Amino acid sequence: MNIKIVCLFMASLAFLIQSCSEPVKTDLTQTAFIPKPVSVTATGTAFEVNNSTIIYVQNGAEELMKTAEILAAKIGKATEKITIQPVQEAPSKGIYIAVEASDELGAEGYELTIDKKLITIKGTDPAGCFYGVQTFLQTLPANLASGEAIYVPTGTIRDYPVYAYRGMMLDVSRHFFPKEDVKKVIDMLAAYKINIFHLHLSDDQGWRIEIKSWPKLTEIGGSTQVGGGEGGYYTQEDYKEIVQYAMDRSITIVPEIDMPGHTNAALASYAELNCDGKARDHYTGTEVGFSSLCTDKEITYEFIDDVVRELAEITPGPYFHIGGDESLSTKHDDYVYFVNRVQKIVEQYGKKVIGWDEIANAELIDNATIQFWANEKNTKLGVEKGAQVIMSPARYAYLDMQYDSTTHLGLHWAAYIEVDRGYNWDPAKLVEGITQENIKGIEAPLWAETITNLDEIEYMVFPRISGYAEIGWTPAEQRDWESYKLRLAKHGKRFEKMEIDYYKSKLVPWEE
Ligand code: ACM
Repeated sequence: MNIKIVCLFMASLAFLIQSCSEPVKTDLTQTAFIPKPVSVTATGTAFEVNNSTIIYVQNGAEELMKTAEILAAKIGKATEKITIQPVQEAPSKGIYIAVEASDELGAEGYELTIDKKLITIKGTDPAGCFYGVQTFLQTLPANLASGEAIYVPTGTIRDYPVYAYRGMMLDVSRHFFPKEDVKKVIDMLAAYKINIFHLHLSDDQGWRIEIKSWPKLTEIGGSTQVGGGEGGYYTQEDYKEIVQYAMDRSITIVPEIDMPGHTNAALASYAELNCDGKARDHYTGTEVGFSSLCTDKEITYEFIDDVVRELAEITPGPYFHIGGDESLSTKHDDYVYFVNRVQKIVEQYGKKVIGWDEIANAELIDNATIQFWANEKNTKLGVEKGAQVIMSPARYAYLDMQYDSTTHLGLHWAAYIEVDRGYNWDPAKLVEGITQENIKGIEAPLWAETITNLDEIEYMVFPRISGYAEIGWTPAEQRDWESYKLRLAKHGKRFEKMEIDYYKSKLVPWEE
């Protein structure tokens, strides 16, 4: 065959393949971004990502290499092999990731510019670069097939978060989840620009973190869970691995040791922590409010000092959560004395205190943060005492609340939280007198009394977490349920691609 005919044949074949697949999208403003970016403008053409696309990384910006690798792994699935290359200057084509300070965008902000030949992701810091990459990934089709060229609509996105603290909490005490499950949850959160993962590491039913100076905490306290299963715990090496995995995805781990209540697992492990000197039995039920550390024994504070010291040493993030909720069997004055002392221990090890809203009844030290979950009076008191607030209202943001009366998992003591209810609230308008300047951010907790495995975590977390991510990121005046539900509908396929077993709410017109 004549070479010209071969070329002509190949070209028409390529055209046919191209025209049989989805039409090339060229309007960036039509992309279903979650969280919704602050500004998106379209320029009406498309960038082609293929095998020869190179990811260029600003030379010397070590933290960006991991982000580039995560990006390469995602698009590499579609186009096989993607090269990552450090460069001194911006290239003329390919994908370029760089840090560039910008007062206008602020912390965690980024500008993503997609031209026909070059995609530039400029973050004001490494986190901003990571979020720019996450936004870019949402411009790609949910179902990337191996070897296929991908087209990305051109334009510019300028974006930054409303709140600096955008979190999810996982209770690993009531049921224990292995570190592989925790990493999968972290992956899912990272895709939606969540930057805090709070681990509720101890409670009545289980102690889940190795403390070398108090080994029975995990030997005894970690050996069971709700319903009497075998429980489990993270070694300090496991925990460090989780911390690093999260850090590579711009997520900070907040460890919580809940006290003085919610401590039966510790009280079962060490007799001396009890006022009567007698070790408690394991507890595998789901009641609350019956346990308390002995607030007037010195050994209690030696114990806490060791726990905080060991955990602070392996926690690079700034926070240490001291719990403080539902200490119903601790006398008020004892509670206040205890919380005052424990805050000082946390401060001594260089961490900032977070506690559930009850800790507002103590004298709050500088930089303390209270996590509003139930009591507005406590929360206002905390703000009067100078604290910042994390908004986790149980009636809107608790991921263990059932979607409706037919949900087979979870509880409903605070509310049924359908996907619209979970989305339709503004942290700055929820509690009278508490406004945006008092609020550090939001967090959606998943308590695990009824949650026993990763599939169940996914079902309760998705799709509501995408809405919490948007509440934390996007200005309230740019959010509305009608627009959100149409964007969310397009994320069903993304959840499926990530093998997330999500709740297919009837309120959302999911795309098939
Ligand atoms: C809580 O739900 N006890 C903070």
